[in-house]
Amino acid sequence: MDQPLFVIRGMFAHSTIENPLIVLADHIIGVSNGKIVFFDQADQLDKHLQPFGGRSKVSLTELKRGQFVIPGFIDTHIHAPQYPNSGKGLDLGLLEWLEKYTFPTEAKFKDLEFAEHVYEKAVRRVLRNGTTTACYYGTIHTDACMKLCDIIDKYGQRAFVGKVNMNQNSPEYYIETAEESTSETERFVDSVLERKNQRIQPIITPRFAASCDDKLMNSLAKLAHDKGLHIQTHISETKDEVAWIGNLFPDHDHYVDVYDKAGLLSKRTVLAHGIYLTTEERKIVKDRECGISHCPNSNTSIRSGTCDVKQLLDEGIKVGLGTDCSGGYSTSMNDAMRCCLHVSNFHAIHTEKIHISHREAFMMATLGGAQVLDIADRIGNFEVGKAFDALVIDVTKEGSQIDIFENDTIDDILQKFIYLGNEHNFTRIYVDGADVLPMLLKGSQKS
Ligand code: GUN
Ligand code: FE
Repeated sequence: MDQPLFVIRGMFAHSTIENPLIVLADHIIGVSNGKIVFFDQADQLDKHLQPFGGRSKVSLTELKRGQFVIPGFIDTHIHAPQYPNSGKGLDLGLLEWLEKYTFPTEAKFKDLEFAEHVYEKAVRRVLRNGTTTACYYGTIHTDACMKLCDIIDKYGQRAFVGKVNMNQNSPEYYIETAEESTSETERFVDSVLERKNQRIQPIITPRFAASCDDKLMNSLAKLAHDKGLHIQTHISETKDEVAWIGNLFPDHDHYVDVYDKAGLLSKRTVLAHGIYLTTEERKIVKDRECGISHCPNSNTSIRSGTCDVKQLLDEGIKVGLGTDCSGGYSTSMNDAMRCCLHVSNFHAIHTEKIHISHREAFMMATLGGAQVLDIADRIGNFEVGKAFDALVIDVTKEGSQIDIFENDTIDDILQKFIYLGNEHNFTRIYVDGADVLPMLLKGSQKS
């Protein structure tokens, strides 16, 4: 059944392929059946309303100064089961951190009650932070991953969910055989696809090359290929890890070659981190049209390294932002944008190379993320025909860290939101044209 049109009038900001940040005064967006049906200057309102029966038939929200609309954030790399560890256990580097904190926590998700308890909190937090699309890692446990899907569905988020694969170099309490790993992944994929929920898609998730042998990676690649699925994994995150992969796969040219020969690289592949990729490796990543999930909070918090994100962008590689909870301590994409700017600034200070601006950070948090997930034809900005996944921001709300002054332009207001915004600024969180915020706030004391 056709849903009535609703219209929002006011300030908007979004990215296009040509321009990382466009800030628009006095525009109108029309949304019907979850899709954007027009996006134009406000003086064109009557023209657009004619086919819908004019103003009397339409719900119109007019925004005030300090209020505006942006596309929903897209977190291209987040570990839902690591949410209990957010903000702790950051004293160790990656490989020791995995052994001491991460694997023991993830192993607990065999218990479905525990999984439900944590995933409920994790999904609520992520969505409350304005992440309308998340690309999640689960654990190796298929049924717990299905619980994660249930909860995402309940709250109306858009997501990719991956059952993690690990059949080597993992603790005996948290490992599978290649056969189990493949058959359980098939079971997971089929269960998710059976639900026919367009918003929640399975994603093939070999944790990283250290935890999967060639045989497993080959069978996962075949599965992804046969069913047209997305793939996510980690790559080149720390120097120790890169050296380890070199030892584990001596017949391969480099880290990218391990995934490439296994058949894991396509335009639907999300590679997290990619800090130490060589020129040759980056060329293959670009040629295969893979996306990089840049995780600046994590890369700093567990001291993995400094990713030259400007170089990736300049080379034409698709780049989105990832919070990488809990290597990164925050699930907030505002935080990811800020960390991204800081990392790029420090890199520029130390190398005298050029840093990115808030415009690129905004693009990576929205349209760039959609490109990395290969869904930029459906979400990421306000092009007509795309799903209306959006955040209505109010910088003047209780709990806001932002004050605006008479001389602040709309560009200034947007910039202040990038640097100072938090969840208290989100007054509506739309996914597919439905506001999911009331459901999130229901039964919750915190807003
Ligand atoms: N590499 C392999 N597993 C992980 C993980 O859980 N987090 C991060 N940051 N890197 C990884
Ligand atoms: Fe990660």
